Amino acid sequence: PLTPTGDIVRSAAADGRGVGAFNVIQIEHAEALVAGAERAGAPVILQISENAVKYHGGALEPIALATLAIARSAAVPVAVHLDHATKPELVHEAVALGFGSVMFDASVLPYEENVAATKEVTEYCHARGVFVEAELGEVGGKDGVHAPGARTNPDEAVEFVRATGVDALAIAVGTSHAMLEKTAALDLDLIAAHRAVVPVPLVLHGSSGVPEDDLTRAVEAGMTKINIATALNQAFTKAVRDYLAANPTVVDTRKYLAPGREAVAAEVTRLLGVLKAA
Ligand code: G3H
Ligand code: ZN
Repeated sequence: PLTPTGDIVRSAAADGRGVGAFNVIQIEHAEALVAGAERAGAPVILQISENAVKYHGGALEPIALATLAIARSAAVPVAVHLDHATKPELVHEAVALGFGSVMFDASVLPYEENVAATKEVTEYCHARGVFVEAELGEVGGKDGVHAPGARTNPDEAVEFVRATGVDALAIAVGTSHAMLEKTAALDLDLIAAHRAVVPVPLVLHGSSGVPEDDLTRAVEAGMTKINIATALNQAFTKAVRDYLAANPTVVDTRKYLAPGREAVAAEVTRLLGVLKAA
């Protein structure tokens, strides 16, 4: 069933489990993520990014309604989340559509501006019962420029959470978005230092670049919401490529998208094990 993000994230944080948060671009992603979570017997977060909305011509509603419907009919708890929103209007639209949470990403702004913008969005969301994630210390790579050297200071993180009222915090601890190789060097000591002082669940972005043993260690060190997108698209695209190479005359889109969808489902089941999500 469709489940409030706060329920899923807070109970996982209390138990020391990880929560997989995976990105939806096409409806096949949402179907695959839920199938994979059902096989793992674990809750899951389906997230739609502002960039995915851009891909759909600026329209959030069609992909959101499909994703929410898939979440409602799931056999495991499923939350629907808006990922990396930079525009408050998109947050307002997601809240109106029934999303359980939003990530408002003002991490490119100087500290005081990040606080002010995030606080305003958080007040709007909290008045409507919606859980808010924000980011402090920029996790790079969204523009194709990898900056795994960024680090979030734990004392600043505590002050940021206090000043904004956010419910979860994304921190920079050695990852970068959209890495195709698992070569990110995760700063596990820094994760533990944040966990010791930051009063809300912690979020890891750019998790595709992390070696899988380190994903488990990250959860053990205190990370809760683990965002993975690129690794699943690698699985999807490889399956489609393999199918098309073996079947060069096929034209029915279902024939090659189905193996892509199944590859994502299998990968999600596996990754939820790595994250100790069940
Ligand atoms: O917000 C989404 C994630 O941070 C995904 O990053 O594509 O590097 O796994 P990734
Ligand atoms: Zn991210």
